[in-house]
Amino acid sequence: MARKPIIAGNWKMHNNSAQSKELIKGIRANVDSLDIAKLPEIVVAPVFTSLYAVNEEICHCGCGRIKLAAQNVYFEPKGAFTGEISIDMLKDFETSYIIIGHSERRQYFGETDEMINKKAKVILDNGIIPIICCGETLEQREQGVTDAHIEKQITEALKGLSTEEVAKSVIAYEPIWAIGTGKTCDSTEANRVIKHIRSVVEKVSSAAAADAIRILYGGSVKPETIKEQMAQSDIDGALVGGASLKADSFADIVKGAMIG
Ligand code: 13P
Repeated sequence: MARKPIIAGNWKMHNNSAQSKELIKGIRANVDSLDIAKLPEIVVAPVFTSLYAVNEEICHCGCGRIKLAAQNVYFEPKGAFTGEISIDMLKDFETSYIIIGHSERRQYFGETDEMINKKAKVILDNGIIPIICCGETLEQREQGVTDAHIEKQITEALKGLSTEEVAKSVIAYEPIWAIGTGKTCDSTEANRVIKHIRSVVEKVSSAAAADAIRILYGGSVKPETIKEQMAQSDIDGALVGGASLKADSFADIVKGAMIG
């Protein structure tokens, strides 16, 4: 089955509304004229406070070539959860995707596999697509437990989801040692781990879901690395951090992922 590639920019904690507007305008200036039939899905994930401004810019484009993502959501619908944002609030901005389980959220904010599973369910119940992140530390890689660690993360994240829900979800494999370090994971190794993720999806869900689910690579993706990454059999796109903060480099990554 042909899986539509995705290039997603995770802006992390950068850019106020005005800066976000500048960035999305810059991206649009680079991608609006490209052949839409050949484009990957383009996704940008600004901070919550910039969702309104970025959504306005994307809507003006009128062709749906750029989609909006949030960087997180809380799984409860409402209540006394100071500082959190619910799924209903994100629906105000026509959010198509929500990133969950990013290693920075796991590391700095105590996000657990159980929370990530609850978030995945709430997102899918509301017709939005989760981008579920997983990945090992350098220590785990050196200890040879990468595959086992990722198997646990994915198994827990997908618990209780229907095969249809799994099929439409997105996973991002982001080795923690490659994030923000400039040290990209070798493409063939990233592809090997992503194939392993697909086999885990088959085990916990179905062969059809494993074939349909899109699995991205993230970790120091740059315009110079994307072609080789996209040439791999099982890499369906990229979740980009640093290089998504400049319109030119993000657009170059998008161009490198164009089909045909
Ligand atoms: P970098 O591209 O800056 O390594 O970040 C990757 C990432 O964490 C995307 O979610």
